[in-house]
Amino acid sequence: MFRDYTESGSWTEQTLHENSADFSAIHFRQRVAVDMSEQSTATKMVGQDVSMPVALAPVGMTGMQSADGEIKAARAAEKFGIPFTLSTMSICSIEDVAANTRNSFWFQLYVLTDEEFVESIIQRAIDAKCSALVLTLDLQILGQRHRDIKNGLSAPPSPTLANMLDLSTRLRWCLGMLGTKRRTFRNIVGHVKEVTDARSLMNWTTQHFEKKLDWAHVRRIRDSWPGPLILKGILDPEDARRALDTGADAIIVSNHGGRQLDGAMSSIRMLPSIVEAVGDKIEVHLDSGIRSGQDVLKALALGAKGTYIGRAYIYGLGALGEAGVTSALEVVRKELKTTMSLCGEKCVDDMRRDNLILPKGFGKDFD
Ligand code: GLV
Repeated sequence: MFRDYTESGSWTEQTLHENSADFSAIHFRQRVAVDMSEQSTATKMVGQDVSMPVALAPVGMTGMQSADGEIKAARAAEKFGIPFTLSTMSICSIEDVAANTRNSFWFQLYVLTDEEFVESIIQRAIDAKCSALVLTLDLQILGQRHRDIKNGLSAPPSPTLANMLDLSTRLRWCLGMLGTKRRTFRNIVGHVKEVTDARSLMNWTTQHFEKKLDWAHVRRIRDSWPGPLILKGILDPEDARRALDTGADAIIVSNHGGRQLDGAMSSIRMLPSIVEAVGDKIEVHLDSGIRSGQDVLKALALGAKGTYIGRAYIYGLGALGEAGVTSALEVVRKELKTTMSLCGEKCVDDMRRDNLILPKGFGKDFD
């Protein structure tokens, strides 16, 4: 059920597939005879030092992939010197992650209809010293993911015959879950009156995404959050221009990993028009489709200052816990370094459009 949740896109999964296919259609220019004795993947995202321009994306229910998954992923990220973003829909709470890590992490916010809850969770993120707020704008309504409906996705899984059969072949997972008290959405349970158990929780969350969410909400959240604000889910140059008036520090070009509007363009294809629309007035980041260090470099070459991986680290977490996340990050870093070298670049920040050979008309779909 949780593996399906990770893999799924919405409806026909066209956008999910195009996110990866469009990266593959981009080629690098191979350059030779450049001194590569000193190389650096270090840079900054929203003014914060990162050892490579890759953050762990907010992913719902990470703590169902492996017991205490958010804590494990946050620890792997802090050892690596990159940001970990905790989802509102996480299993471990903000407080759980803060108590079990040393460095600050980022918090992702969904605007829900319960204003008191939104105010209090922002305050909890401030109290936990989260160092950036990632506000998701593309989920006023949940995209339909067929496999989640078929599986009756819930955290924890309900005790149906199908689930019991499934769990009987996953002993390591069951033991992990028996060994932790973190088995449901701990950012929410205990913080909202109507939510007392898994069933009321699932109902509450799906019904409480704020359908009225608009730019005025974004400005209000800007006023209540003292640190860097990052707007996630921008896929259109006009929305990117609107974002400039909100006082946000960065935008994430994203189609939510192909999980929301199926049939939307891939984020890498929209990136050039969005970068052109905002220039250097706001930092541009990208997620959706990044599976390798090579994809990271392609996004940087087209103007992104940072990127996010979701599925690419969740698979590692599901397989091997914290060590699996570390391993996934090592793969990404190695690909980054090797590919940069063979492109003749010493620093990630030096990647330019000129390092790529793009398919004809790439990134001009919007014009
Ligand atoms: C939530 O962000 C999801 O994609 O499930």
